[in-house]
Amino acid sequence: MISIRILFVSGMALIPAVGLAQDAGERPVSTGVFSEAQAARGLGAYRTSCESCHAKSEYTGDKFKVAWVSRTAFDLFDVIRSQMPEDNPGSLERQEYVDIVAYIFSLNAYPAGSAELPADDDGLKKVRIDNPPGGAPAAARSGRRLTPHPRIGFRQ
Ligand code: HEC
Repeated sequence: MISIRILFVSGMALIPAVGLAQDAGERPVSTGVFSEAQAARGLGAYRTSCESCHAKSEYTGDKFKVAWVSRTAFDLFDVIRSQMPEDNPGSLERQEYVDIVAYIFSLNAYPAGSAELPADDDGLKKVRIDNPPGGAPAAARSGRRLTPHPRIGFRQ
C-alpha cells in the first residue's frame, strides 16, 4: 500500500517537472552562451590544431548557417571532436574542443555572455544554434522568400 502511494505521488510530480525542464532548459546561442575568455582560448587551440587546414570562411556566413543553424552546440562539438583534426581525430582535450566551439560562435558574431559554454554533453545539448545576429546576408534571405521577390523585382 505504501509503495503504491509513493509511486503514484512521485509519478504525478514528475510529469510537470519534465515538461518544464524541456521548455525552459534550452538556450539560443544569441543569448550569450560563452565567455570572451573562452572564445580567446578557443582561438589559441584553433591556431594550433585547425588553422593549417581550414580557412575561417569555412565556419562563417552562409556555410555556417546551412550546416549548423537549428542544430545544437553538442552536434557541432561532436562532429569536431570525433572527426578533427583530420590527421588525428579526438587528440585534443574535451575542454579545448568546447573552447573551439565557443570561438566558432564568436566568429559568427554571436555575443559573449558572462558564463562559459558548458563542457558536458547535457549542457551542450541545451544550447540551440539560432540564426547569427547582425542581419542575414541576402543569399540566406532569398532562399526563404523566393515567392515575393519576383513581384518586388517587377515593380522596380
Ligand atoms: C589535416 C587537416 C585538417 C585539420 C588539422 C583539421 N581539419 Fe577539419 N576538415 C579537414 C577536411 C579535409 C575536412 C572535410 C572532410 C569531409 O568533408 O569529409 C574537414 C572538415 C571539417 C568540418 C566539417 C565537418 C562536417 O561534417 O561538417 C569541421 C567543422 C572541421 N573540419 C573543423 C575542424 C576543427 C575545429 C579543427 C581543429 C580542431 C580541424 N577541423 C582540423 C581537414 C582538417
